[in-house]
Amino acid sequence: MSNILTIRDLRVAAPNGAILVDGIDLDLAPGEILGLIGESGAGKSTIGLAAMGYGRGGCRIVGGTITLGDTSLMDGSRATREKMRGARIAYVAQSAAAAFNPAIRIGEQIVEGALYHAKMTRPEAEAWKLELLKTLQLPNPETFGDRYPHQVSGGQLQRAMVAMAMSCRPDVLVLDEPTTALDVTTQIEVLALLRSLIQRYKTSALYITHDLAVVAQIANRIMVLRHGKLVEEGTAEQVLEAPREDYTRMLVAERQGNLSNAV
Ligand SMILES: Nc1ncnc2c1ncn2[C@@H]1O[C@H](COP(=O)(O)OP(=O)(O)OP(=O)(O)O)[C@@H](O)[C@H]1O
Ligand SMILES: [Mg+2]
Repeated sequence: MSNILTIRDLRVAAPNGAILVDGIDLDLAPGEILGLIGESGAGKSTIGLAAMGYGRGGCRIVGGTITLGDTSLMDGSRATREKMRGARIAYVAQSAAAAFNPAIRIGEQIVEGALYHAKMTRPEAEAWKLELLKTLQLPNPETFGDRYPHQVSGGQLQRAMVAMAMSCRPDVLVLDEPTTALDVTTQIEVLALLRSLIQRYKTSALYITHDLAVVAQIANRIMVLRHGKLVEEGTAEQVLEAPREDYTRMLVAERQGNLSNAV
């Protein structure tokens, strides 16, 4: 089956010209969850944002191609990129609080993507919002959306943010450490919900994390990154159970160290 997202030889430069991402190839199949792992500063977020044609803080995509379905994100105008972003690819960041407007009710912010990007009618958008809130197991889904962002817990707001990202029915979700701010129990719940949501709606996802325990739970395939370059990639099982590269072995050993310390 053809890819939903194809990246070839991606290069991203910092404002001073330093190369932050160097020659990354990435393939994402429909329905697949691809984990991007590596230490802080490896370039994970930079790649996730570049997948939407976006450079953060003055970073620029200076080489390569990004194709979403059969549409290139590189040739189009800024307007085309803006349209694709939010319509076919959506981003879920670590801090849900920063993604919501504090003065607008949560439900209204979720409905927006459905109305403006997915072009649903108001009743369709409301029905889709309710379905998402139910799927994400938010309390009292009929009235949950009436609350303001500060009126719900961190874990609930994180799930609401996933609903907001899904509201436009994107083909691809970029999940950038979406559970890092949550306690471990909530993290496990949100992960399980994310996985079932992605399967149910046949969405594909890039799942960015430095946490191997998290990626083991959710990803089908894993890419290991370091200093903006690919270290190795394979199925989640291959990479975590039988890593080929020393760097990956070190990450895996660190995790095992953490686990045994925790016991
Ligand atoms: N606007 C910028 N200007 C200069 N350097 C930047 C900029 N944005 C990111 N970088 C650098 O690019 C590298 C990759 O950053 P990135 O945010 O992609 O890492 P990451 O893998 O997501 O790390 P983390 O796990 O900490 O989120 C880092 O060395 C970072 O300092
Ligand atoms: Mg990051």
